[in-house]
Amino acid sequence: MDSIVVTGGNALKGRIPIAGAKNACLTLMPATLLSEEPLTLTNAPRLSDIRTMTTLLQSLGAEVQGLQEGQVLAMSSHALDNHTADYDIVRKMRASILVLGPLLARDGHAVVSLPGGCAIGARPVDLHLRALEAMGAELDLRDGYVHAKAPSGGLRGGTVDFPLVSVGATENALMAATLAKGTTVINNAAREPEIVDLAECLRKMGAQIEGDGTPTITVEGVDRLGGATHRVVTDRIELGTYMLAPAICGGEVECLGGEIRLLEAFCEKLDEAGISVEETDDGLKVARRNGRVKAVDVTTEPFPGFPTDLQAQMMALLCTAEGKSVLEEKIFENRFMHAPELMRMGAQIDVHGGTATVSGVDKLKGAPVMATDLRASVSLILAGLAAEGETVVSRVYHLDRGYEHVVRKLSGVGAQIERVSGS
Ligand code: UD1
Repeated sequence: MDSIVVTGGNALKGRIPIAGAKNACLTLMPATLLSEEPLTLTNAPRLSDIRTMTTLLQSLGAEVQGLQEGQVLAMSSHALDNHTADYDIVRKMRASILVLGPLLARDGHAVVSLPGGCAIGARPVDLHLRALEAMGAELDLRDGYVHAKAPSGGLRGGTVDFPLVSVGATENALMAATLAKGTTVINNAAREPEIVDLAECLRKMGAQIEGDGTPTITVEGVDRLGGATHRVVTDRIELGTYMLAPAICGGEVECLGGEIRLLEAFCEKLDEAGISVEETDDGLKVARRNGRVKAVDVTTEPFPGFPTDLQAQMMALLCTAEGKSVLEEKIFENRFMHAPELMRMGAQIDVHGGTATVSGVDKLKGAPVMATDLRASVSLILAGLAAEGETVVSRVYHLDRGYEHVVRKLSGVGAQIERVSGS
């Protein structure tokens, strides 16, 4: 198994290009199932999760071709010959559940395995199922699979009331509603930029959607959707991650393609901590102001709040801040698995349920550590960049799910980092 070896201490300087959003791409890809005409995505990230979604769509009969080294995905679902998303593919990635709404809306039936993904809590799919039921679907859970059927005549518009905000369930509901008969109202919808990106792509395909980016989305179903070409929005989580690199190590880095509107709550916390963020013509320039980083308290929330997907990386920054920071994780119940690994590097962290208290230390020390999930793994790399000596991060296959060319991007701004092949 490969590992990543980081030697800390270098201040960073230069520019890092930010890729298209993994999480947007993973919902834009299943949108191809809604139409017989081609859907082309540009600015796609080159990641193992995207390859998993490609395999899943191909197993259903869709054509998916990666062009320009995978940055363009040319897809077509003119003939689907399978409506079962198999456990062997779905277990690798929770976002696989996003084929359920489109298959059901287009052909009236689907069988999808219950998903896997990062081990960061129970992560049920009840809200996805509830949304489809509100559109008339009949669902049966058998042998680890969801067996779904639309009423004769297809899904019909309905009111979907989400008791809590779910990104994936909003995406499934939105895609299904585009082809349902009549009007669907989605209440307490997620407002993430990835939802807005999906809605923009679906509108290009001919869907009638209003209110995306607000808590209430209204969809007027249409008989059919056409083809489209769509550019995937910038990955705000990759952006935030690389913004933290100069914050942790010192120096100045410009993240190309970055926009503050994608990360307002996060940028406010960086400002409080003493990190300057400036919008430029090409992206966001980030630098550490003089002196030590200051402690800040962080609570994760659905967008526009502080993203849970940046909590682990922010914790890496706060490990060496001046004072005590309290991090509250409100989205996933088991998302502090990086804390014990950071403590191996000398961090002082106390975890009680969903709250972690970080008492800043002067310096972290390099150590062998283990990646436990996607965002945790990159937080260990960030910590390693600031630590004295060598940090070896093992189990980096988690990282390949969400960060393309991490070694190239960080060494390009002066970090000492390399990937070492293991047996
Ligand atoms: C998406 C992102 C993930 C991010 C998360 C929250 C993708 C591919 N993944 O995941 O990176 O961390 O949003 O921003 O876009 N829940 C239920 N029942 C459900 C669905 C969710 O109880 O049917 C709960 C979850 O356990 C969690 C909360 O709702 O506590 C939010 O999860 P959700 O927004 O659905 O996350 P994902 O869409 O899976």
